[in-house]
Amino acid sequence: MKVDTTTLSLLDSKYDGYLEGELVDEFIQDFGIHFAAGHWCAGEFFDRFCPVGYNSNDPSFDDSIVAQIERVSKAGISGIEFHEKVFIDSAYQKDPSFIASVKDALEVNKIVATNMNMNTWTDPKWKYGGVTHPDSKVRMECIQLCLQGVEIAKEVGCVSCNLWPGSDGWDYHFEVDYGKRLSWYIEGCTEIAAKCDQLGLKFGTEPKQKEPREGNMIVNTVAKAALVAKEVNKNLGKTVMGVVIDYGHEQMVGNTPADSLYMLKRVGVPIANFHINGAKFNSNDEDRIAGTDDIWRLVEFCYAAVDTSYDGWFGEDQFTYRTEQVRSMRLSLEFFANCMKKALKIYARKPVLDSAMSTGDAANTIEVVKKIIYNG
Ligand SMILES: [Fe+2]
Repeated sequence: MKVDTTTLSLLDSKYDGYLEGELVDEFIQDFGIHFAAGHWCAGEFFDRFCPVGYNSNDPSFDDSIVAQIERVSKAGISGIEFHEKVFIDSAYQKDPSFIASVKDALEVNKIVATNMNMNTWTDPKWKYGGVTHPDSKVRMECIQLCLQGVEIAKEVGCVSCNLWPGSDGWDYHFEVDYGKRLSWYIEGCTEIAAKCDQLGLKFGTEPKQKEPREGNMIVNTVAKAALVAKEVNKNLGKTVMGVVIDYGHEQMVGNTPADSLYMLKRVGVPIANFHINGAKFNSNDEDRIAGTDDIWRLVEFCYAAVDTSYDGWFGEDQFTYRTEQVRSMRLSLEFFANCMKKALKIYARKPVLDSAMSTGDAANTIEVVKKIIYNG
């Protein structure tokens, strides 16, 4: 991000007041904020209550990847995340002509590919797990799938890869040998991280408390994901693997997102990517429009990103079932920009905040930030 005296001076002039319309785009550009959306945010939404899809009664709705790229562009967003599944056929073979057509669409719409997510859950073969499947043959197939995903990421032009292990975890007590599963997860991530390192890509794993696994997923917290990353990096003899933090997953587990950022920095684990959205404590993953929940938490998260020198992408990971895709993506961008602006205004007063923090009295820190949180 571009955070210096010149850009910070714009906060109380050009960017004073609520940011809307073109001012949002100019703010994102002036501060060098890398903002993306997952391709799925721009497509059809399915859930178990409407498995045919919430747009399936609209014959004009185009769910193709090219149409999704166009919608991301219409929302004024400059980056897009993919799943590797988008680029492979039913036999798990990558399709070079399709990769070429997506690259063309990205160029036409002036959008860059940012992060490649590995899909290891939608095929029933992963029902008992992906990289931690109890059958070693299936485990190896899953790792191979991820390694191919890393290659596709490089071809498409991504800068990072993410393993959100949707099928890895448990639903019941005594279902799995926890230690064995964790070892398999570390072994699988070591292979994927090595491939990412070889191709010059960042790699992270995205923790989530539960869903689709209803006991826990294999990496349920940022701290456990960091532990996995540290073990993987120990295996590789260098720092390669990091964590992908999903803002909504942090709400699900009751974490303070800002705390996770400082914790990762302290233990030397990089952040490979961010997912932003809205969710509540202990809920299933809501993936609602970012910035529609607790503003204090989101502003503090943005402040932590600036203060810990995060320079990667913020990518929308949302499933806005009942609101139109372009409008929903745009609203998330708008709310995020407004919260980031508040964070930057606080950052411009960092010495004052640090001084208030040193007193140990929360009332002193609240006095420093209150007007910015409410009116800034
Ligand atoms: Fe996510």
